[in-house]
Amino acid sequence: MCGIIGAVGLNNIQNILLQSLKSMEYRGYDSAGICIQGEQHLHTRKAKGKLINLEHLLEQSPLTGSLGIGHTRWATHGVPEVRNAHPHQTESIAIVHNGIIENHKQLRESLSAAGATFDSDTDSETIPWLWQQEYTKNNNPEIAFHNTLNQLQGAFAIAGIQANEHKLWFARRGSPLLLAKGEAGVFVASDALAVGTVASHVIYLQEGQWGWSDLEHIHIFNEDGSQAAIQWEPMPEMVAATEKGPYAHYMLKEIHEQPRVFLDILNAYAPDKQHIHFPQAAFIENDPLPSRIIMVACGTSYHAALTARYWLERYLKIPVEVDVASEFRYRDPVIGDNTWFITLSQSGETADTLEALRLFKQQTPQNKTLVFCNVASSSMVRESDGVIELYAGPEIGVASTKAYTAQLLALALFSLKLASNANAMPPEETTKHIQYLFDASQGVESLLNNTPIFDKLTPLFSQSHGALFLGRGPCYPLALEGALKLKEISYLHAEGYPAGEMKHGPIALIDENLPVIVLALRQYHLDKVISNLHEVQARGAKVILITDIPEKEYPTNVDTIIHIPEGDFFSAPLLASIPLQYLAYNVARFKGTDVDQPRNLAKSVTVE
Ligand code: AGP
Repeated sequence: MCGIIGAVGLNNIQNILLQSLKSMEYRGYDSAGICIQGEQHLHTRKAKGKLINLEHLLEQSPLTGSLGIGHTRWATHGVPEVRNAHPHQTESIAIVHNGIIENHKQLRESLSAAGATFDSDTDSETIPWLWQQEYTKNNNPEIAFHNTLNQLQGAFAIAGIQANEHKLWFARRGSPLLLAKGEAGVFVASDALAVGTVASHVIYLQEGQWGWSDLEHIHIFNEDGSQAAIQWEPMPEMVAATEKGPYAHYMLKEIHEQPRVFLDILNAYAPDKQHIHFPQAAFIENDPLPSRIIMVACGTSYHAALTARYWLERYLKIPVEVDVASEFRYRDPVIGDNTWFITLSQSGETADTLEALRLFKQQTPQNKTLVFCNVASSSMVRESDGVIELYAGPEIGVASTKAYTAQLLALALFSLKLASNANAMPPEETTKHIQYLFDASQGVESLLNNTPIFDKLTPLFSQSHGALFLGRGPCYPLALEGALKLKEISYLHAEGYPAGEMKHGPIALIDENLPVIVLALRQYHLDKVISNLHEVQARGAKVILITDIPEKEYPTNVDTIIHIPEGDFFSAPLLASIPLQYLAYNVARFKGTDVDQPRNLAKSVTVE
């Protein structure tokens, strides 16, 4: 949700800024821009659309200088046009911003009355004007910047430069921002991926921190203005992980990484195949079971949580509530004591999930919080009592694939662990389930070694007006996820439905042009799902059956069947995810959409 970069370098930093924006294009790609300090003035280039347009512009009219900022945008206020692209600036101050300035209307009015002239429809443009006003009032640049921040309401990560001072300014409140350094200079960025090739050390800024840097000095202040300690950490290795390799798209690469990700997770948490241990969440081991669990997430992560509810409730016999974060945080939730709060997030920065976590902590600080997250340095990880890291590696494709199955697998291990804590599962049964999870890695590998079987699905979508995904039990959230994947990258309308609920309405959609994807697995109410399948068939739908049952055992007369290896109660959804991901990928390719950067979306949704 917008990527920002700032650099103060030894040499010309134009190409570093561009390269960093390229690594963060997944955060937003409707326009981009950079601003570099020249000898006397600030020089800016902006272009609508993808970063390549900015690159072409800079080829024609390059910029030179060693202090600059850059931005890749996902529009919140104002349509994607050059005038709304960042950086925004006055004559002498330029900023890039990720987040939302909630009091921008009031600021705009008072700044306009004082002579500011706005060129864009954005909330962000109020920042340089406010800063300019404060700078004129105060001789002390630190006080001017701090006063500016104190008047902003909402969420922000900001990088800024001035025409007359060789300093890179930065601030973080509610949106992610890190500081990094390397031989080429000092940087601020939304994501470590942006500076992975140029920086060796990093500081993840805390909420409310702000400061400035030049090549010799770095000053970080806390929200109240006090000086903060400067503690550099080594930059994590990530360059190879962010390259596409031989794959046509990041999404395809990430689908194919899943067997490796499964083994990494299993070897981290259950290396002896008998005992499960989460080293960063000691309370799971030490505390008694809670009387209730609440799980909160958005999008694909929410779907993973929904599947886990079936696993947890079956063995723990305690209520497990699952909610989308944007609903949870505004519905005055009743929480109570003795409740564990679990968030799930690939990025760990999704605004609604993060705010739901903060709300929960504020309301019941005595309760424990746990996050399943793929980004170890993220805000959710830092703000939770316990962490189950997903070890999926950077996920660049906007449509989540490997992070989703990593969540499912980590949730399966978590459910097994709690079942064993509750004496609801004997050790030999736990070992058996863990073995099934290890086997799922091979099962997925074998499916991925035979991808032509997925090709026969694509033609069924050439004339379709949508698609319906049906499943029961843990396959119902899988149906939701299959539908989400398809709509995200192929722009086809798709619905996921509990198979048993279909005849209460959606059956009216069915005609000979509607592909209906039925998930029928031995573990989850097979007979009932097959009955639903017959109901769909009887109405002329084009059925795609994804199943782990041989046709001779359960004749269905369906033309298009995808057979997957058989899993157990915990591993079956991992295997069934693969055809759903491949289906979405193939339909998107067939339709010629932008698989990795689908329209209107961004990878990390850091605004509510
Ligand atoms: C997944 O394909 C989506 N792009 C989206 O639904 C995503 O899962 C959601 O925005 C939550 O993101 P998070 O896991 O990073 O919190």
